[in-house]
Amino acid sequence: MNDKEFQDLEKEASKEKLSVNSVDKNPLNQFKLWYDEILKSDYVEPTAMTLATASKERKPSARMLLLKAYDQKGYVFYTNYNSRKGKELGENPNGCILFYWDRLKRQVRIEGKIEKVAKEESEAYFKTRSYKSRLGAWASNQSSVIESRTVIVKEFLKYLLKFRTDVPLPEYWGGYRLIPEVYEFWQGRENRLHDRIKYTKEKDGWKIERLAP
Ligand SMILES: Cc1cc2nc3c(=O)[nH]c(=O)nc-3n(C[C@H](O)[C@H](O)[C@H](O)COP(=O)(O)O)c2cc1C
Repeated sequence: MNDKEFQDLEKEASKEKLSVNSVDKNPLNQFKLWYDEILKSDYVEPTAMTLATASKERKPSARMLLLKAYDQKGYVFYTNYNSRKGKELGENPNGCILFYWDRLKRQVRIEGKIEKVAKEESEAYFKTRSYKSRLGAWASNQSSVIESRTVIVKEFLKYLLKFRTDVPLPEYWGGYRLIPEVYEFWQGRENRLHDRIKYTKEKDGWKIERLAP
């Protein structure tokens, strides 16, 4: 999609109306509709999202991550299981991911329980990463305090010598999957009268409601 086409999409999106009747009955399809549009554009980091977690003391934290896969099972990202987010998810599996695509004035919020993906799935994804980013996963004890940058560079070189060709998956590194229970699609509109459509998982299907902006 070139910039002119994206500008047309922007104009279209600003006119777009979301309603309980117009959205797809399945929030995964509604997500795919918006996500495919953003992926087709030259948008910077279209897959970037905020992940919010909370500790067992109920203190929240948030950080940016990249969405690596999604399907009817849920939304997958990869990280270090010993990181702050990993520890918080170990204590409290409830989480929330949030996408914001400013040029299209769109926000998507997805809430649910988060669980580790199967080791084979992490292994398959790890193999797709570059040699150096695989080494990076070994070199960084993510979220730990370090004295200086030298510490991490030394670790990187250590693993570079250790794993000359193949870099195995570290046992503390892998994927998480958020299994959606609630979605909210937000479309910015004029006069701050934005459209907000909420989906709540029910026994068979999804309840769809409009929220006040
Ligand atoms: C755009 C962007 C994408 C990022 N993607 C990832 C990611 O996919 N996985 C990851 O572990 N950290 C990623 N990070 C770094 C995280 O934001 C964060 O610093 C790191 O995961 C440690 O978070 P924690 O201490 O809360 O566990 C990304 C940062 C930015 C700005």
